[in-house]
Amino acid sequence: MYGMVNKALEDMVCSAHGESVWESIKEKAGVDVELFLSNEGYPDDITYRLVGAASEVLQAPAPALLRAFGVYWVMNTAAKGYGHLMQAAGANLKDFLIYLPNFHTRVNLIFPHLNPPRFLCSDIEESSLKLHYFSDRRGLSPFVLGLVDGLGQYFNTPVAVNQESFWSELGEHDIFHVSWS
Ligand code: HEM
Repeated sequence: MYGMVNKALEDMVCSAHGESVWESIKEKAGVDVELFLSNEGYPDDITYRLVGAASEVLQAPAPALLRAFGVYWVMNTAAKGYGHLMQAAGANLKDFLIYLPNFHTRVNLIFPHLNPPRFLCSDIEESSLKLHYFSDRRGLSPFVLGLVDGLGQYFNTPVAVNQESFWSELGEHDIFHVSWS
């Protein structure tokens, strides 16, 4: 994954727990990278090891960390660093979610070697929809829960998101039920 992912994780941990905690997480993960470069590609394994080590050091379950990271990603990385992309993608939560299947096509223009997630919306109602999430990576559904939480915060819209089906059941993707008021 692009270095910006690991860098955002570092920023989240450092702002809540300080740099020395991040250093011990890197050490536990066996990650010997001084500085993550946003535009550089790093093996996915590094990100997974960092999340695993953060879970041990902070004594928090990895899914809870990933969910918090989803919120952080939207409210800090996306909103602050890529405000123009966020604004172009929709003026409210519903429009944004409906646009989401196309979102990373734009991101791809900035990051040409992106291996992006794929999304699809179905059962679109006035205040709910089903979000289908496809990825070549495993274990990131808690991150998606947090991203949707974060989008609710970003649009000042109370949102509820529940995972309805799991990759292991369907054999290819996860489905989330998202509702807002
Ligand atoms: C401007 C804002 C955003 C940028 C710049 C961005 C960029 C990225 C980047 C660089 C990755 C790592 C993938 C790789 O390096 O191959 C990624 C992964 C991901 N992004 Fe985004 N993203 C943004 C917003 C969002 C939003 C709003 C969502 C969903 C609500 C989202 C969902 C995901 C997911 C689930 C992954 C994990 C990869 C996977 O599932 O395989 N992103 N994104």
